[in-house]
Amino acid sequence: MKTETSIQGLSASLNPARSARKIIGFIPTMGNLHEGHLNLVREARKLCDVVVVSIFVNPIQFGPNEDFDNYPRTLEQDSHLLAEVGCDIVFAPSVEQMYGHHPRLTNIRVGEITNDLCGLQRPGHFDGVAVVVTKLFNIVQPNYAFFGQKDYQQLAVIKQLVRDLNMPIEVIGVPIARAEDGLALSSRNGYLSAEHRQIAPVIYQSLKQAEQDLHAGKALLDVLTEIRMQLTQAGFVVDYVEARTPMLQKSDQFDQDIVLFVAAKIGNTRLIDNLQIKHIL
Ligand code: PAJ
Repeated sequence: MKTETSIQGLSASLNPARSARKIIGFIPTMGNLHEGHLNLVREARKLCDVVVVSIFVNPIQFGPNEDFDNYPRTLEQDSHLLAEVGCDIVFAPSVEQMYGHHPRLTNIRVGEITNDLCGLQRPGHFDGVAVVVTKLFNIVQPNYAFFGQKDYQQLAVIKQLVRDLNMPIEVIGVPIARAEDGLALSSRNGYLSAEHRQIAPVIYQSLKQAEQDLHAGKALLDVLTEIRMQLTQAGFVVDYVEARTPMLQKSDQFDQDIVLFVAAKIGNTRLIDNLQIKHIL
């Protein structure tokens, strides 16, 4: 496995594969990798000849009071894990390499779907994601790019961006990897105290309970209230509990497939999760 830290170095590494028309798969990450990230690499390995993973903590997607400075940076450990799952090239540029050369005047706003859920709580976040992912796509020029359904809205934003701007890339969504107790894996789980780690699985439990209740005929709005109550009782401060269609349209009835979304804080740690619920006739 090779590690490249410059755009030029990465191009030099990829050019032979490009000339040979090899299929290039790409997984953008911010590092501190866990099984969720590694599953994306395994998916890429199945479909692609060359697998590239980027590790870059992107400053422009963090708000002023968010955890950019403290975000865990564990490149050496990440490299070992990536080598084990068959990654070919790690791209780990500096902030200087990605943003330092000239002032950036271009922004990318994906519009309506970013003015909802996490986009409401984190103004500018998805613009920052759209810019860095576009830059990385242009640098890597992959055939396939892999994103987790853990960040469902982010996946929807990237799919929209790729479609709107005719990027010649196929975006593939990969299911959420969870700990045994159901907690969605996240680099931010490392911030949790032992006590909060014990409480954290309540998010998934409340979503699974909601699924049962919906299938038993309970009204969607009551189910959302129930999730909110369970989270509050467990000690969370709820950012949002919402239902949307798979295309992220508003929905206040369970008359088609829906996705339930939760964002909630336990202590200082903000956790997100979602569950897709099939409408069974
Ligand atoms: P990061 O949080 O490191 O996540 C990288 C990718 O891993 C994302 O596509 C995310 O959805 C996926 N992922 C994280 N936890 C997962 C889990 N438990 N199950 C499945 N997939 C999971 O998302 C970002 O970085 C950044 O916003 C990025 C796209 C790299 C742009 O900076």
